[in-house]
Amino acid sequence: MFVRLIMRTIFPFLCAIAGTCAGGSKQPHVIFILSDDQGWSDVGFHGSNDVWTPNIDALAYNGIILNSHYSENLCTPSRAALLTGKYPIRNGMQHNVIADAAPWGLPLTEKLLPERLNELGYKSHAIGKWHLGYFKRQYTPTFRGFATHFGSWSSHQDYFNHRMQAAFLEYEGLDLRDNMEPDWSESGNYTTRLLTEKAEKLISNHNVTKPLFLYLAHLAPHAGNFDYPLQAPPETVKMFAHVKPIERRVYAAMLWELDQSVGRIVKALNDSGMLQDSIIAFVSDNGAPTTGLYRNGGNNWPLKGEKSTPWEGALRTVAAVWSQRISPNRGVMNHLMHLADWMPTLYVAGGGNVSDLGEIDGVSHWDFFARPGAEAPRNEILHNIDEITRYSAIRMGSYKYVNGTTFFGYLDGWYGSKNSAEDYNVTAVLGSTVAAILGSRSEKSILRLRSRAVVNCPAKEPGEIFSPCDPSKGPCLFNLEKDPCERNNLYGSADRNLIERMERRLSEFEAARVPAGNERPEGAGDPRFHNHTWTCWRDDEELPLFASLRF
Ligand SMILES: *[C@@H]1O[C@H](CO)[C@@H](O)[C@H](O)[C@H]1NC(C)=O
Ligand SMILES: *[C@@H]1O[C@H](CO)[C@@H](O)[C@H](O)[C@H]1NC(C)=O
Ligand SMILES: *[C@@H]1O[C@H](CO)[C@@H](O)[C@H](O)[C@H]1NC(C)=O
Ligand SMILES: *[C@@H]1O[C@H](CO)[C@@H](O)[C@H](O)[C@H]1NC(C)=O
Ligand SMILES: *[C@@H]1O[C@H](CO)[C@@H](O)[C@H](O)[C@H]1NC(C)=O
Ligand SMILES: *[C@@H]1O[C@H](CO)[C@@H](O)[C@H](O)[C@H]1NC(C)=O
Ligand SMILES: *[C@@H]1O[C@H](CO)[C@@H](O)[C@H](O)[C@H]1NC(C)=O
Repeated sequence: MFVRLIMRTIFPFLCAIAGTCAGGSKQPHVIFILSDDQGWSDVGFHGSNDVWTPNIDALAYNGIILNSHYSENLCTPSRAALLTGKYPIRNGMQHNVIADAAPWGLPLTEKLLPERLNELGYKSHAIGKWHLGYFKRQYTPTFRGFATHFGSWSSHQDYFNHRMQAAFLEYEGLDLRDNMEPDWSESGNYTTRLLTEKAEKLISNHNVTKPLFLYLAHLAPHAGNFDYPLQAPPETVKMFAHVKPIERRVYAAMLWELDQSVGRIVKALNDSGMLQDSIIAFVSDNGAPTTGLYRNGGNNWPLKGEKSTPWEGALRTVAAVWSQRISPNRGVMNHLMHLADWMPTLYVAGGGNVSDLGEIDGVSHWDFFARPGAEAPRNEILHNIDEITRYSAIRMGSYKYVNGTTFFGYLDGWYGSKNSAEDYNVTAVLGSTVAAILGSRSEKSILRLRSRAVVNCPAKEPGEIFSPCDPSKGPCLFNLEKDPCERNNLYGSADRNLIERMERRLSEFEAARVPAGNERPEGAGDPRFHNHTWTCWRDDEELPLFASLRF
């Protein structure tokens, strides 16, 4: 006990001085790029031809395509899982998102990924979207382990003036911060480029005696405000004249800008000599909203449902990781991974010992990435239990169990479409910045990898159902290995033991669930009272005692 305490105190200190940790190897820089509302089929390596994501594709082909990576189904729960290593039911983040001007946030009792990495000697910075609460300053990024934050605190914004219109309120205000200061100076600068520029500066100014953790949470390709939802620089939109639906055309331009960002980040790392010591992850926070609120023209085809639902189109996400430390060219991997796993995975990569992370749901995949032949660390995912919307979903092995649904089932279909007529723009991949830096696989090997990453739903079209599921009437069961598109409900025909085992597991999680922490929006958060900014409007109140007693 005492020895561990000393180790915990001394070890990070040694790491910090020497820039080295466990095993004598240098601690890797971690660049975690989160995209927002990017659908399954909104990336070239999943088979899309209408949108072009050459840099993201090149990164993925050179690293690992994490083809069974699961997020939560919405922004707030996903970000909470990523930064805590826990399922959202553990800390009340399981229902919906933090609404604008709603006085709650990710509980301060949670120790976040940047705080954990800082203990190993890292310097952590956040750029981009937060969406984990800001009604009091203690909930904002620079109070939660990030040395600096440039970006926004709420859900979305206008990509040019950086103002956010609340979803159901008339409030509107600036949502752009340089640390705690509102930044009015960037009006006119496109958000994706602006965040990228800040990231480049941060990388080039980083003192490499310390390992860097950069959390780059892009707003793209989330929709902007209601009055102007899809926004991209006009010259970029022109590149996608071949995409006929106008919404999808602008969306393709937004994605292109996101992809350019990835190229620029990799180049900045290369230019500063940090690349060979870096881990770069690219992950989407949930599937695309193809229809409904904040629809963005994204496409989860052929997966079922969309953002916010219990279906694969919401949960199974675009994800890839690259590092010279994971054996290179691992190709497509289909083992289960959940957002909560990044906390222990990156902690282990940084030289930490998972037993220091306490009780979390995440498991480390570092060994599995780094050592071919290692056993896959995860066989189960609790997708969620939402006691307010009244649905739950769990994955065990290849089976998925769903009871109840969201939006009264209105989003329980298959949306988006099959690919357009164009061919894959593999020329763009071969000519991308990332390929120029990391080197490129041959065209033939790219196409082979890609064909392994595409989800095919055999026989019928995804919209055609073998055996229907109405989760509001009773639970449904799917074998996702055989039926990734969730068309064939096996609940009536499956082995009762299997179903009982899944229901038992679900009730174990249910017993550990804490109530959802959601609060209603309140007028005091209205930007009109705060010089037209979204700000910490409850800062004057005392914090509850427990919140300040974290250590
Ligand atoms: C955008 O950012 C650049 C710096 O990169 C700055 O020179 C410019 O004035 C900013 N504003 C606009 C409207 O482009
Ligand atoms: C980087 O950090 C080290 C250790 O703190 C310090 O000695 C060095 O001067 C720093 N370098 C720069 C360029 O700031
Ligand atoms: C991690 O810590 C546990 C408990 O202190 C210890 O038993 C284990 O050997 C450690 N693992 C590594 C890889 O250091
Ligand atoms: C399914 O969900 C409903 C509503 O939450 C609940 O009442 C019911 O007990 C659940 N069914 C099973 C089999 O767990
Ligand atoms: C492929 O993408 C590049 C951009 O990298 C673009 O200039 C080119 O026109 C595209 N080719 C085709 C055939 O669409
Ligand atoms: C990457 O960095 C190396 C070493 O500094 C440099 O020679 C090379 O030109 C860089 N690559 C690109 C594409 O910028
Ligand atoms: C209030 O907002 C304006 C921009 O609308 C800004 O120029 C000014 O500095 C802000 N005042 C304060 C006190 O923050």
